[in-house]
Amino acid sequence: MKSVNKAKIAIIGSGNMGGAMAQVFAIAGHECIIADADATYSEQSFKRLLLETESFEKQGLFPVGSTRLISQNLSYAKSIEEACQNADYIAESVPEIIEVKKTVLGQIGDAARKDAIIASNTSAIPISQLSAFVSNPERFLGVHWVNPATFVPGVELIATPHTSEENLQFVERLITGVEKVTTRVSDVAGFIINRLQFALYKEAMTMVEEGSSTPAQIDSVVSNTFGFRLAFFGPFAVADMGGLDVFAGAYKSLEQAYGERFAAPQALLDKVATGDYGFKTGGGFAGLDASKSAEIVAYRNRAFAALSQLKRDLGPPPGFPSATQP
Ligand SMILES: NC(=O)c1ccc[n+]([C@@H]2O[C@H](COP(=O)([O-])OP(=O)(O)OC[C@H]3O[C@@H](n4cnc5c(N)ncnc54)[C@H](O)[C@@H]3O)[C@@H](O)[C@H]2O)c1
Repeated sequence: MKSVNKAKIAIIGSGNMGGAMAQVFAIAGHECIIADADATYSEQSFKRLLLETESFEKQGLFPVGSTRLISQNLSYAKSIEEACQNADYIAESVPEIIEVKKTVLGQIGDAARKDAIIASNTSAIPISQLSAFVSNPERFLGVHWVNPATFVPGVELIATPHTSEENLQFVERLITGVEKVTTRVSDVAGFIINRLQFALYKEAMTMVEEGSSTPAQIDSVVSNTFGFRLAFFGPFAVADMGGLDVFAGAYKSLEQAYGERFAAPQALLDKVATGDYGFKTGGGFAGLDASKSAEIVAYRNRAFAALSQLKRDLGPPPGFPSATQP
C-alpha cells in the first residue's frame, strides 16, 4: 500500500536533477534509492549527495539533521531493476535524449510493480510521446522540477489522457508534502516553464545577435526589473496591475518596430475595447479580486521591499560581468 507520508522512492538518473530530487525526498523522511547508468555511477552519486548535504547543512541551506536523514534514508542500487522492484514512486531523470528515455522507461515499466507510479522529469518532450514507452500508462505522468530542485519551489505536473486521477492526486500530495508548489499543466511541448523561458531566451539572443544589447545588459535589466517582479506575480497579474490599456498602447510601438509578431494579442484588445483595463477598473485576466486591491498593493509593496533588501544583502552574483556601471 502506497503512503504519501513514507513512500518508497526510486530515482533513475542521479545527476544534477535526479540527485537533488533524491535529497529532497530523503530529507523529508522518504526511503529513497538512486540508480544511474551503472553501479559505479550510482555509488559516485550517492557519495556526492552525502558530501553535498553535509556542506549544505553546515551553510544553513538545509535544515539541521539533514545529513543524518540522508544517511538513514538514501541508498543506491546496482541496477535500475533493483531500484524499481519495491518502489511506490519512480522518477526518471536521465538525459533529454528520446532514445535513452525510451530504453530507460521500458526498463522501469518492466521492473516496477504494476501499481507503482512512474514520473518523467523531461524538460520539453510531450508526456504522451513518452507514455508509449511505459506499460500500464495509467501510472505514468510528467513531474517536472526546476533547477536547482533542492531550492526552487515550483513543480509542473503533466498528466496524459491515460493517467489515472488517483495516481495524479497521490503525486500531488507526495510533492506538496516535500514543500513544493505543484501546478497541473497541459501536455504541450515545453509545458509552461520551457515554452515561456525559451521564448524569452530566443528574443534576448536576437537582441545580442543584432548588436543592440550585450548578454550582461540583458541579464542586469531582466533580473532587476520585470524578472524581479515575476518572483511574486506572473505575466497576467503584472499586466493587470500595470494596466491593460497601457500594455495595448506599448504593443503599437513594438509592432511598428518589429512587425506582426509583436502585434497586440486580440484578447487584450477586446478587453480594452470594453473598458476593462485590469486592476484599475476591476477585471483583467489574472482574476484579482478588486475588493482586495489595497491588500494586494500592500502585499506587493512588502514583497518587493523584502526582495530588494535580500538582493542588497546578498550583493550581485559573483563572477558575472557588471552592466550596471557606465
Ligand atoms: N538541468 C536542468 O536545468 C533541468 C531542469 C529540469 C528538467 N531537466 C531534465 O531532467 C533530466 C535530467 O537532466 P540533468 O540536468 O539532471 O542531467 P544530468 O546529465 O546531470 O543527469 C543525467 C543522469 O542520467 C544518467 N544516465 C545516463 N544514461 C542512463 C541510463 N541509461 N540509465 C540510468 N541513468 C542514466 C547520467 O549518468 C546522469 O547521472 C533531463 O530530461 C532534463 O531535460 C533538467
